Amino acid sequence: MSTANAAASVQWSSRLGFILASAGSAIGLGAIWKFPFWAGANGGGAFILPYVVFTLTTGLVLLMAEFAIGRRGRGSAVSAMRRIGGRPFALLGAFAVLTSFLILAYYSVVGGWCVAYLAQSLTTGVVTENAQTLRSDFREIVSTGRINIAWLFSFLSLTAITVGCGIEKGIERASKLLMPMFFVMMLAVIIRGLTLDGAMEGVKYLLSFKPEDLSPGAILSAMGYTFFSLSLGAGILITYGTYLPKRADIPLSSLWVALLSIQASLLAGLMVMPAVFAFGVAPDAGPGLVFITLPMIFAHIPGGCIFAAIFYVCLLVAALTSSVSLLEVVVAFLHNEWRLSRSTATIASFVLLFFLGSLSALSFGELNEFTLFGRNFFDFFDFVCTNFMMPVGGLAVAALMAWKAWPAMKEELTAAKPIPPGILSAIRVVLGVLAPILVLTTMYQGLFL
Ligand code: PHE
Repeated sequence: MSTANAAASVQWSSRLGFILASAGSAIGLGAIWKFPFWAGANGGGAFILPYVVFTLTTGLVLLMAEFAIGRRGRGSAVSAMRRIGGRPFALLGAFAVLTSFLILAYYSVVGGWCVAYLAQSLTTGVVTENAQTLRSDFREIVSTGRINIAWLFSFLSLTAITVGCGIEKGIERASKLLMPMFFVMMLAVIIRGLTLDGAMEGVKYLLSFKPEDLSPGAILSAMGYTFFSLSLGAGILITYGTYLPKRADIPLSSLWVALLSIQASLLAGLMVMPAVFAFGVAPDAGPGLVFITLPMIFAHIPGGCIFAAIFYVCLLVAALTSSVSLLEVVVAFLHNEWRLSRSTATIASFVLLFFLGSLSALSFGELNEFTLFGRNFFDFFDFVCTNFMMPVGGLAVAALMAWKAWPAMKEELTAAKPIPPGILSAIRVVLGVLAPILVLTTMYQGLFL
């Protein structure tokens, strides 16, 4: 049996499993720690409106194109791109695999912090009113190499075990269990936050809409966030698409993934901001928000320890379902191109990632002084992947499916249900013209402004 056929025999067992796994990849740390702050800082509604519009237009067609490449080409991101677009696109597929690998090398360091905080919230507790203690506790985890590396190891192990168990028994089963749990737990924290005095200020900060705030900066940030939050351009949805059965409805499934991702971002905003405002703390983004500000806030809330633990479960689930998708891209590549067995491929990736991840983990402590283009390892990987590598991947997908292989794209889109020609033309224009213009502009902003 050829490798393509071998790969084709592995499939998602249900549409729900596929949608939840893809949504799980999309919904990650981005939604929880970038969205609430970015939305607030860019005028609330003036960020949310373009974000929703981009997700349902450019984001949606790019999702469809990635799934279509995967199902049409089979194998891995590399062989799928090669089969549809020839050698140059195979190289772009390899670039996407490298992107996923590099993202994982810093994403899993943060995943390690999530495990650390969950473990602590279930044992000694993380909540305290003392901001100084919280800051020094966080600094200790982050800047002590062996502690940071130990947590990285635990997070990477969870990721590798899930991927090692395969598509149906590993990724699909984990997503079906974790994603619904994620939404229910999020709702519990949201309800608690919204019932605090002063919570409505946070809702207003997030949702207020002033047309004058619709600046080019807010619009470009919304595009950048759309791209990152849908996990586009890193070969992930291509790889997940390779396990799609022929009869699956790609447009409908893509719409589901986009809507779930929007919903998760909005819910994450509602989970974080009302509580932040109820206690009059300055909203923050990134690690400072989830590892310092929020534990301080939970300390003021009755039952705060329990809600803190629930919150860190959500954070870990979000990070894990995204890291699993990143690792799957690499494992599928090694399995299909280098013919390693799935378990050997998983172990080999784990070892390499542990090494590279350790460099990122040490970049807040022992390797602090070591910089590439003025950035430590962690920030360098983050900067290059989000501002350069993912956009290049997105451009490759758009060019391939809108221009080089449009007939194949049309067939994939209409495999389950016919689509009116007008809508197909609109999809082609958004994919082949609008998406590249927006991606290039955002890339320029990220790299040079
Ligand atoms: N979408 C994920 C998040 O929001 C991040 C991610 C990007 C995951 C690219 C995989 C690939 O956190």
